[in-house]
Formats: sequence, structure tokens, C-alpha cells
Amino acid sequence: MPSKDLLDADRIRRGLKTKRIGRQVIVFNTVSSTNDTAAQYVNEPDNDGLVIIAEQQTAGKGRAGNKWFGSKGQSVLCSIVLTCENSNSELLSLTVAVAVAEAIGETARIKWPNDIILNGKKVAGILLESKQTEHGRTYVLGIGINCHQKEFPVELASKATSIDLEMQGYCDRTLLIKRLITSIEHWLIIANKKARRIIETWSHLSLLLGQRVTVLYNKRKFTGTCSGIDPEKGLILQLDTSHIQFFPAEQTAIAKQQDGLTRHPFE
Ligand code: BTN
Repeated sequence: MPSKDLLDADRIRRGLKTKRIGRQVIVFNTVSSTNDTAAQYVNEPDNDGLVIIAEQQTAGKGRAGNKWFGSKGQSVLCSIVLTCENSNSELLSLTVAVAVAEAIGETARIKWPNDIILNGKKVAGILLESKQTEHGRTYVLGIGINCHQKEFPVELASKATSIDLEMQGYCDRTLLIKRLITSIEHWLIIANKKARRIIETWSHLSLLLGQRVTVLYNKRKFTGTCSGIDPEKGLILQLDTSHIQFFPAEQTAIAKQQDGLTRHPFE
């Protein structure tokens, strides 16, 4: 690993123009999960915007109880503490997906709820966790971005990718984290003022809009066509039974997407 690619809090903060996200940045060598480390800071309102980063996780967490793997120094593994956030978790989830996609690059797309896709393969995932404290609802936004991986375990090889693989270069993780922090602050401001713009941008980046999908919700499968997103109720499906149903991000998984991950509805 080139020494300039080692993550360092001062280097990440240098030149950052954000006022909220990244006011404090802590870089660890190894933690069990950056989300669990970040959760230790949510009771103190002053920690709003704190960014916890690690070079390595020993028990990285994915959505739906899955594990999140990644060898040391190969990824961006970070969690952001929000102690003063007004957005509901549905809108927040859309906002973070838009922000992470923008930070990765203009070809990144969103597979609802929280997968970021480059050229048809998953390059990043987001795990949003929330907790009620005596000061109100708090959130930890956990973001994992594959940067330098050259290969993946067999079971992931057809589905996962890294920035280096897709962009044919060497991803500067410090720069990527700076872009991520800036993008998250930017889109959170928009979410709090003009949620409509989040929906518009999400719709533009989404791989699901207009597609036939099967989702798993409440242990049942529902199949239909994705007709949009609601900032409070989640994914909107026009079901084959002809009625419309909403699916909240936290309790829903995509079981099947008929047209794959490469087509974009606006292309
Ligand atoms: C998913 O796609 O299932 C979500 C993956 C989220 C992984 C990130 S890595 C940094 C943060 N810490 C964790 O334990 N998980 C998230």
C-alpha cells in the first residue's frame, strides 16, 4: 500500500469545508465494527457529525444480519454519527445513498435500498442504524466502499467489484473520504430543506425505477413494477394484483430484479 494511502485524521480534515460532518474525525487501525464504535458516541449531542474510520474491521456488519468482509487497507470503512437529524429514517436512507453514489462518481447507480452499483456490480453498501436517546433520535450511517480489492470470494465474484477494478486506477482513499464527507453534508442540507430534490436525484440514479422486482417483506414475497419512492413510506410497487403497496427500507430486501443491474431507466 503506498504510504500516502494510509488513512490519517489530520490529512482527511485538511482543507475540508464542511461545518457539520467531519468536525471530528477519528481513524482506528482495527475495530470490530465502525458502526459499533460510533454507537458509543451517540448519547452526547456534541458528537453530531463525528466520523469514525477504520483500516480494518473484525466483525463488520451488513444489512439483514449479514457480515461485511474486507481485508486491511482495501476499503473505506466509515460510520458517521448524527445526533441532531430531523429527517426520518426512510428519507435519510435515500439521502445517504444519493450522497455515496455522488462521491463515488457519475457512473455509480443505486440499487434500493442501500447498494451502490458500478457497471452492474456492488461497490459499496450502507448500514443505517438508529437509537432513541434522552436527547432524541440518533443515527449511525455506516458506509463500506470497496477500493483496492482485485478479487472476491467465489460466492461474491459475479456480484461485487471495487473502484480500482472499475476505474482502472488506484483509488485515493483520503480523497474519496473527503468527497464522501462533503457529499453527505451537502445532501443532508438538501434533505432538510427540499426533500423533493432527493427523490428526483434518487430517481435519476436508481436502477429499480420502472423495473419488475420481487421484494421480501414480512416473510412474504411481493412482485410488481417499481413506480417510485416515497420519502416516508419507502419503495412504491405497482403489484401484479394491481394495487399499490409501500415497502420500508429497513424491513425489505430485494429478492429478485428481472432486468439485472446494468440498465438505467433514463438511458
Ligand atoms: C450492506 O450492504 O449490507 C451494508 C454494508 C455496510 C458496511 C459498513 S462498513 C462500515 C460500517 N461498519 C459496519 O460494521 N458496517 C458498515
